[in-house]
Amino acid sequence: MSNSVEIKKKIGIFKKTINVPGDKSLSIRWVLFASLAKGKSKAKNLLMSEDVIAAIKAVKKLGIKVIIKEKECTIFGKGIGGYNYKKNLTINAQNSGTLGRLILGLLVNSTKPINLIGDKSLSKRDFRRVSEPLSKFGAKFKLTNNNFLPLKIYGSSNLKPIKYYENKGSAQCKSSIIFAGMRVNGYTIIKAKKSRNHTELLCKYLKLPIRIKNYKNFDEIKIKKTKKINTLNYNIPSDISSSAFFIVLTALSKQSELVIKNVNINPSRIGIITILKKMGIKILLKNRKTYKGEKKADIKVTSVKNIKAINCPPKLNSGAIDEFLVIFLVAAKAKGISYFKNIGELNHKESPRLIWAEKILTNLGVKTVTTKDSIKIYGNPNLDINLNKKIIIKNYMKDHRVFMTSLIAALSFGGKWIIHDKDSINSSFPNFLKIIDKIKK
Ligand code: S3P
Repeated sequence: MSNSVEIKKKIGIFKKTINVPGDKSLSIRWVLFASLAKGKSKAKNLLMSEDVIAAIKAVKKLGIKVIIKEKECTIFGKGIGGYNYKKNLTINAQNSGTLGRLILGLLVNSTKPINLIGDKSLSKRDFRRVSEPLSKFGAKFKLTNNNFLPLKIYGSSNLKPIKYYENKGSAQCKSSIIFAGMRVNGYTIIKAKKSRNHTELLCKYLKLPIRIKNYKNFDEIKIKKTKKINTLNYNIPSDISSSAFFIVLTALSKQSELVIKNVNINPSRIGIITILKKMGIKILLKNRKTYKGEKKADIKVTSVKNIKAINCPPKLNSGAIDEFLVIFLVAAKAKGISYFKNIGELNHKESPRLIWAEKILTNLGVKTVTTKDSIKIYGNPNLDINLNKKIIIKNYMKDHRVFMTSLIAALSFGGKWIIHDKDSINSSFPNFLKIIDKIKK
């Protein structure tokens, strides 16, 4: 079967209500927390994508029983210290930076060495950002070329708490250190540049010994040894990062309206909403609820006639880090020049996304000026691609967001597109194309 999609026509007017799958960050975290709890934890609406399945396979390899039945996943945790595995075990994080980095935090006190491998894309990503702080606890690492997967972790039973400044704004690093801190006597103190805080909220909900102080530009997290984690039944809210593609599709369409039900709107994740509202897009959050420490709501988007350019305040970056590629499409249709700075982290994702942003926008005929950590986008409110212009996108780094952003561009601006690497959507959003078909109908 072909691994590409052809789009020949722009999308028409639509008014629809959709559901998108469960949040990826929360799904992976639930699997890991449930594997440490003593007893049965159940999740509904768990994202059944390759990244989350890789997390399930990883805890199974660590000796934890998992059953998936009728849309419900049950994990039979054996408590902290309950992992049981053979010497030289290999865990495959596949395409998932979140799984690869978080799980290392849980393995700092492993009694036998464990190998961590990943796919071609993950093997090009930086793992020193976690091996460095975890080494300070007393674990040892052997990384490929000092930085990359495959790596080997040698846990230690003689760990010391650490003080660490996480200055990249990486929730994966922060969470990995929190997981390690849960294993170590004494207080581990993390000063962390702002990033998504799902791990901290879950720790608080589970009443783990964590203290958090929020300052303007960073958070201070104190965590100490945790003896017991309670089981956690969780109904995972939908993923704002998956919703982002449809929010933008609506923003770029004429006379259209879309409601996305039950989406996680954790304040550390809603950068896209703040940014698009500043650009003039009409977005309403309805039925707001709090769920186990997280916030959720229905998102209603209505298309508008005029889109404004934005000089994006860097304080919004961490809350929109996974959404920038698709946000740039809105900037392409804005009146004026939009500017996004301090976003060098985009080049450390599944593929170098700033470089891919430039490729996609150039294909659209939009002028960009890109540096290693910023992009200027010269918007054109009348942007419309010649019907016969051929555009081919080939990523092959399993970068699901490059594929989905290209598809939204094709449906919004026209042209004849062939977008390769369709399978990449399986890592975060397997039914993406089905939802596109539902909106088209
Ligand atoms: C994630 C954190 C972010 C994000 C990724 C998911 C998480 O990565 O890009 O998709 O679940 O913690 P960084 O920690 O590298 O910023």
